[in-house]
Amino acid sequence: MIEQRFPATRLRRNRMRAFARGLTAENRLAPADLIQPLFVAEGDLTGPAPGMPGIARREIPALCEECARVHALGIPAVAIFPVIPAEQKNAGGDAALDPRGLIPRAIAAVKQAVPELGVIVDIALDPFTDHGHDGVLRADGSIDNDATVEILTRQAVLYARAGADVVAPSDMMDGRVGALRSALERDGRVDTVILSYAAKYASGFYGPFRDAVGSRTALIGDKRSYQMDPANGDEALRGVGRDIAEGADWVMVKPGMPYLDIVARAKAEFGVPVAAYQVSGEFAMLEAAAAAGALDRKRTILESLLCFRRAGADMILSYFAAEVAAWLHEEGA
Ligand code: PBG
Repeated sequence: MIEQRFPATRLRRNRMRAFARGLTAENRLAPADLIQPLFVAEGDLTGPAPGMPGIARREIPALCEECARVHALGIPAVAIFPVIPAEQKNAGGDAALDPRGLIPRAIAAVKQAVPELGVIVDIALDPFTDHGHDGVLRADGSIDNDATVEILTRQAVLYARAGADVVAPSDMMDGRVGALRSALERDGRVDTVILSYAAKYASGFYGPFRDAVGSRTALIGDKRSYQMDPANGDEALRGVGRDIAEGADWVMVKPGMPYLDIVARAKAEFGVPVAAYQVSGEFAMLEAAAAAGALDRKRTILESLLCFRRAGADMILSYFAAEVAAWLHEEGA
C-alpha cells in the first residue's frame, strides 16, 4: 500500500472544480446502459399500473409507439411483460404456449415497428398460471422443476421464433438454461441471447409488479422454494457460474439496490455481461419518498442508477430508463 501523506495527498483537489471532477469520474451513466421494462395488455387491463405511478399497461399499437420513443432516446432494448386476463390463466399456464398469445404478437409487432430495438422477454409461467407460481405444481402443491423446464423450453422457442432477440428465464428452476440453449440450437436459433435471471431473490420488492400483472392476489404461498434467500451470497455465485456453464450469455441480479454486492461479485468473478434489475418496489419506494418531499427525485434516481454502474453492472433494467435517458441527453451526456 502506498503511503498517502498529508499535504502531498489532498483528495479534495480532484473534487474542487467541475473539470477535475469530470476527468476523474470513474463511472458514467449513459442511455446505452439502460433497458426499459414495459407492460403489454389488452382491453380492460390497459391503463395505469396500480402502485406504479406513471407506468402504463399498453395495447400493442401504443406499446410500439412507446418502443419507438424509447429507441429514439438511445435505449438499446426493452423488456416486455404481459398482463393476461384471469379467465385465460390456468394451473398449467397454457396461455404461455399460445402462438397467437399476447407476447408473440407483441414481439412481432415491436420488431416490425422498431427493428433495431432489442426485444427481451421473460421465460416463466407466473403471468399465465392461476396460482401465480413460475412453474407447474405437483398434486401436493410443490413446484415440479423438470416438468416446468419442459414447458419453458417450448415457451422460449416460441418467443424466439416470434422474433425475440433475448429470452430471459426468470423462473429459477434448475437446468433451464441448458435446456433452453439445446432447444434453441435444435431450432436453428443460434443467435438468440439467453439472459439468465441467475441470482433472483425471493424478495418483497416485487409487490407492485405482481399487482401490475395480476399475479399477487393469485399467488398461493410464496416463492421461497425456487427464488433465493436474501441471506445468501455464495449461493448466487454458484447459480451464476452454473448458468454460464449451461450457456447463458448474460446474467441478471435481481432486485438491484439491496443486492449490489452480488452484482460486484458476479462481475469480478466471472467477467461476463451482468444485468441488474431495479425492480418495481425500488421504483415505488423512490417515487413515494420523492412525492413525500423526503428526496430530490431526479438527483436520487440518477444516483441510484450510477451506483449500479459503479458496482459493475453493464446494463440496468429500470422503470426510470426513458426519463433518465431524456435527462442525460439534456445534460449532453
Ligand atoms: C416473473 C417476474 C417477476 C418480476 C420480473 N419477472 C415477479 C416475480 O418473480 O414474482 C419482478 C419485476 C419487478 O418487480 O419489477 N417471474
